[in-house]
Amino acid sequence: MQTTELVRFKKLGKHITVLTAWDAISSSIVEAAGADVVLVGDSLGMVVLGHSTTLPVTLDQMLHHTKAVCRGFCKPLSEQPLVVCDLPFLSYQCGEDKAVEAAGTLLKNSCASAVKLEGAEPETLLVIKRLIRMGIPVMGHLGLTPQSVHQIGYKSQARDKESQEKIFKDSKLLQESGCFAIVLEHIPGEVASTLKKYLTIPVIGIGAGSDCDGQVRVTADILGLSIEQPPFAKPLFPGRELCIDALKEWIDTTNPNPENPTTKTSESKSDY
Ligand code: KIV
Repeated sequence: MQTTELVRFKKLGKHITVLTAWDAISSSIVEAAGADVVLVGDSLGMVVLGHSTTLPVTLDQMLHHTKAVCRGFCKPLSEQPLVVCDLPFLSYQCGEDKAVEAAGTLLKNSCASAVKLEGAEPETLLVIKRLIRMGIPVMGHLGLTPQSVHQIGYKSQARDKESQEKIFKDSKLLQESGCFAIVLEHIPGEVASTLKKYLTIPVIGIGAGSDCDGQVRVTADILGLSIEQPPFAKPLFPGRELCIDALKEWIDTTNPNPENPTTKTSESKSDY
């Protein structure tokens, strides 16, 4: 799958599905489920590394996890999902050269074919244009941009007229700069829906209503595994509780302590 394919999907009205993965197990699952795109998002800093924001994530960590994601795919190369990797905080904010080196390192050493970065400030647009000139496809990200948490928090964005005008302007700038798609996070559905019609590149929503060209979800959130669920990512089932109950049962059935009233008979232990 190539990035240009996603623009074709939009033209054909074919819905685009994007799921995050952070290791070989999660990538094999989302590939088998049929995701078009696998995003190695820097949300892995919160989901699997236990940080309270995405800011501490390093380029080395992104590469380490992206390599594991690539190793997890089971389908032939031509049938594997497109892999997009987030550029972590400070890997692209300090200038174009540093950004090319960071993005190039990810693409050179893993199966990722594109990077995602946040915002549309003038410096960011220069970085995007340079990356694209160097042959590195870029996905944009507007609305709730978690790397700016200390400025905007985790709350819903583009709620007033002024910030809606800004997101329109910024989306257009990202498209003109050459982004192949844009993630819109936690903004009103009507704004995302209008942007979907206004832009020729795909609009991928998360907490941005259902009228987008595609949807992206943090896989741990929709599997109900995250301890803190974002309000806009409803779990499909109570994954954490199901896992805990199953493991509790296993612990009980394997407990060799005869004092333990829940210990099962030796028959149930033959599963070792
Ligand atoms: O890091 C991530 O997982 C993301 C998605 C929430 C879009 O950027």
